[in-house]
Amino acid sequence: MLQTDNLIPDFINKQITQAVMSLRSGNVVAFPTETVYGLGADISQPQAIQKIFEIKGRPSSHPLIVHFANLSELEFWAENIPATAWILAQHFWPGPLTLILTKSNHIPLSVTGGQETVGLRIPRHPIALKLLEQLGSCKALAAPSANRFGFVSPTIADHVKNAFNDKIEVILDGGPCEVGLESTIVSCIDKDVTILRPGGISVLSIENLLQQKVSVKSQNKIRTPGSLSSHYATATPLEICQSSESLFSRSFDLLQQGIRTAVIIRSIHLIPMLNSDDKFHYILMPNDPVAFGKDLYATLRKLDDANFERILVEAPPDDLEWLAVADRLSRASYSFTSK
Ligand code: TXA
Ligand code: MG
Repeated sequence: MLQTDNLIPDFINKQITQAVMSLRSGNVVAFPTETVYGLGADISQPQAIQKIFEIKGRPSSHPLIVHFANLSELEFWAENIPATAWILAQHFWPGPLTLILTKSNHIPLSVTGGQETVGLRIPRHPIALKLLEQLGSCKALAAPSANRFGFVSPTIADHVKNAFNDKIEVILDGGPCEVGLESTIVSCIDKDVTILRPGGISVLSIENLLQQKVSVKSQNKIRTPGSLSSHYATATPLEICQSSESLFSRSFDLLQQGIRTAVIIRSIHLIPMLNSDDKFHYILMPNDPVAFGKDLYATLRKLDDANFERILVEAPPDDLEWLAVADRLSRASYSFTSK
């Protein structure tokens, strides 16, 4: 367990106390986690859970991740926990990992979309942990990402304020999220370990820990944009270019057509070929999957706000370390490929 007290300034501690009161009265509060900001509600209050779906505009059949603070409570929330799940939980919690397990009867079906399984996670952001600890033992928060359904997840408090200011009583500001992409979701139902969503914990570190290969459910879909749901879509159509050559020629085409285009690149050698002006703008992102993932959503939001007509992205390398970034880019490209 992280020692949270000396990491949190006094004024935030006061806001946490306010947030706990708000949660106890059945309201929804926004809080930072190390992955993205969450929209939390006390799982023991059905109307509060209902509010999450209403505020987000999300269908109530979509299951929510349940956040709690103490590993010792895992058996309170889940049943038939396999050995691999214990190994993962002990190693990666608190952290950006969600385990899908058989739910206990302390988890209401309204949280799981009617399923007998539940997504559980102990986040590692000190504000999230403090909030959960103050809420009390055997209490938990259902918390989806704090964005409107289908949009890019928020990685700073302003993203949440811009979307929901009038609808949420308390928005705790913990600064920019350290990871910037959602948690890795690992299903530990039955004996198999399956990655359902790549995210903040890499597939390689899971395989190294378990000393076994794990299957990645969405992997074969990642290079097939358009077959995915519109989750994480940008408002501006986004195209992924598989090579520097195709990126360069596509930029040129769009420029010829007078289409205002923003280009996200990782390769420094492309810079001399690209000139930024009012119709064309390039952004050099870090050529490292962790640093790229941390900046990705904030960059996509900035480009959306800047009224570009098209976003082009240099495809990430085709390897496991880049899987989470490739997955989110592919989902973001829906707005273009679905047309
Ligand atoms: O990093 C994160 O996981 C963030 C922060 C706030 O913790 N939360 C998050 O929640 O991304 P959300 O609701 O935006 O995404 C949750 C994903 C959904 O795709 C949902 O289908 C899946 O988790 N999920 C939740 N419970 C599940 C279950 N029982 N079985 C399969 N998938 C589940
Ligand atoms: Mg989400």
